[in-house]
Amino acid sequence: MADYDVPSRLLLGPGPSPVSDRVRLAMAKPLLGHMDPAFLAIVDRVQDKLRTVFGTNNALTFPVSGTGSAGMQMSLSNFIEPGDSVLVIEQGVFGQRMADAARRLFANVYTIVVPFGSICTLDNVVAMLDAHPDITMVSVVKAETSTGVLQPLDGWAEAIHSRGALLLVDAVTALGGIPVDVDAMQFDIVFSGTQKCLACPPGLAPITVGDRALKELDARKTPVVSWYLDLKAISQYLGKSRAYHHTAPVSMIYALDEALTAIMEEGLPAVIARHQRVAESLWAGLEAMDLYLMVKREYRLPTVATVAIPQGVNDSKVRRRLLGEYGIEIAGGLGDWSGKTWRIGVMGRGAEPGSMLTLIAALRECLEAEGVATPSGIAAFEDIYWKRGWN
Ligand SMILES: Cc1ncc(COP(=O)(O)O)c(C=O)c1O
Repeated sequence: MADYDVPSRLLLGPGPSPVSDRVRLAMAKPLLGHMDPAFLAIVDRVQDKLRTVFGTNNALTFPVSGTGSAGMQMSLSNFIEPGDSVLVIEQGVFGQRMADAARRLFANVYTIVVPFGSICTLDNVVAMLDAHPDITMVSVVKAETSTGVLQPLDGWAEAIHSRGALLLVDAVTALGGIPVDVDAMQFDIVFSGTQKCLACPPGLAPITVGDRALKELDARKTPVVSWYLDLKAISQYLGKSRAYHHTAPVSMIYALDEALTAIMEEGLPAVIARHQRVAESLWAGLEAMDLYLMVKREYRLPTVATVAIPQGVNDSKVRRRLLGEYGIEIAGGLGDWSGKTWRIGVMGRGAEPGSMLTLIAALRECLEAEGVATPSGIAAFEDIYWKRGWN
């Protein structure tokens, strides 16, 4: 073994989230060739399990080789041709990233820019579509990791479809942590990442594509600019012909298989309920510590809490102390909220009471070290977690 050591960490930032030993050990299984029937059987069952977590019967549902951004790039590259008009909702850094990526594909990009911490209304989307009937796709982030906002999408698909456009949804910080329900919500293209609520290392981007989107893909006039992320070419490997496209990341697929099995064993509704229960308990604990949550409760994302850094507290000093002395990782703010917030992930195996109680206690110590007297959040956490009658 190479002579290096990796410190033990409690990963409570917005990803990667903690991974169980069974998932880590799955990656150490012997390699199979990516064309080996035994490996192809694993690929098939991963696709089946992904259909369950996405809530879809879409045949084209699989893990893209690459992190969440590869899923984003694939979703945009396959459904945008140069000169197409698309609408991107920018409620935070990841919406901004989608708009940037769409511009690089020579799309004509319209945006609805929403202040950090707020949501976009369907009325705004409809007004934009009616003013610009050339728009062929609307892209939106369901769970904005930079702000901790949960974007409601009820009725969006119907309104967007009736105006001839597709709906693309970023579910990176949603899948496995909050309901995504692709078929019921009629989403056309949805992508995610493995390192968040699926409790798997980073490296794959689950994606699902519905029939309406596939029809648009068939009607493309120009080739997909990205050879690597060409959906139709890759689907040959997933389909009956099993044609080689690129070498599958075999060990990562073992890990995802195991992580999805763990979710199936616990039951997807129970996994989602655990995220919600731990999140609500965390919010109560933080508020009892006189900390302010940046997002109104009705739009608050269970999977990432954004907390205002109290006045006079040194952001990086607190995070360095949390990491160095307690081995706990949380993240700082992004974009407009850089330096103003901490981001705490309630995701995957991190969505556990023990992890959050450890954080609450350690954060209090760090704030006191900064000269900020802070009440304990433990009792408030426990009141919600144990006494609310969740079961
Ligand atoms: C909402 C959202 N979209 C996209 C991404 C990009 O994913 P990755 O960093 O895995 O490439 C992230 C990563 O945090 C995200 O939170």
